[in-house]
Amino acid sequence: MSHNTIALNKQRQPLDHLESVWLFGYGSLIYKADFEYLQRRPAFIWGWQRRFWQGSHDHRGTPEAPGRVATLIEKPGARCAGMAYKVTPDTFEHLDHREKNGYLRVFTALHWLDEPGEAEGLVYLASADNEAWLGPATEAEIAAHIARSEGPSGPNSEYLLKLAEALRELDEHDEHVFAIEQELIKIPADNLPE
Ligand code: SIN
Repeated sequence: MSHNTIALNKQRQPLDHLESVWLFGYGSLIYKADFEYLQRRPAFIWGWQRRFWQGSHDHRGTPEAPGRVATLIEKPGARCAGMAYKVTPDTFEHLDHREKNGYLRVFTALHWLDEPGEAEGLVYLASADNEAWLGPATEAEIAAHIARSEGPSGPNSEYLLKLAEALRELDEHDEHVFAIEQELIKIPADNLPE
């Protein structure tokens, strides 16, 4: 599958007939809402775990030296917390462009973190069949990769550190993210991009 998913997302899943749509963010979409929204609320999804297994050619790396960013891996019983946004369908013009590097949108059930209740919402997933996929590595290897990567949106380390901070604000403990953060902190500052 081509890593530019803009056309594919549009064609697979037209949204114009809907008045509003919930979007669930689990990576940069938690801490960087560069779009208008009608409502924003902490949420979680079942059956998925967050992993830094996706390559970034356009935000936190380049095609020659991709960075590492978050995607979701299916795991029965796993719970992944993040932020949900209620948006109008036209917002997906911007979102599809932002998430074009291998991410496809799928509908899933969102559960509110702060009270019982749920809604159907969209989540962007990058799976193993996309061209930018990097796959598993140890948390130390992922941290070293992140430490040396940067792209048009800034240093890859900023993506990781902001995500870890946003998860702490949600009172969420994500072993994988926090272990990579601990590994990154051990890397001498003069090995990080400026
Ligand atoms: C997301 O945040 O939900 C998708 C991955 C990303 O943009 O970091």
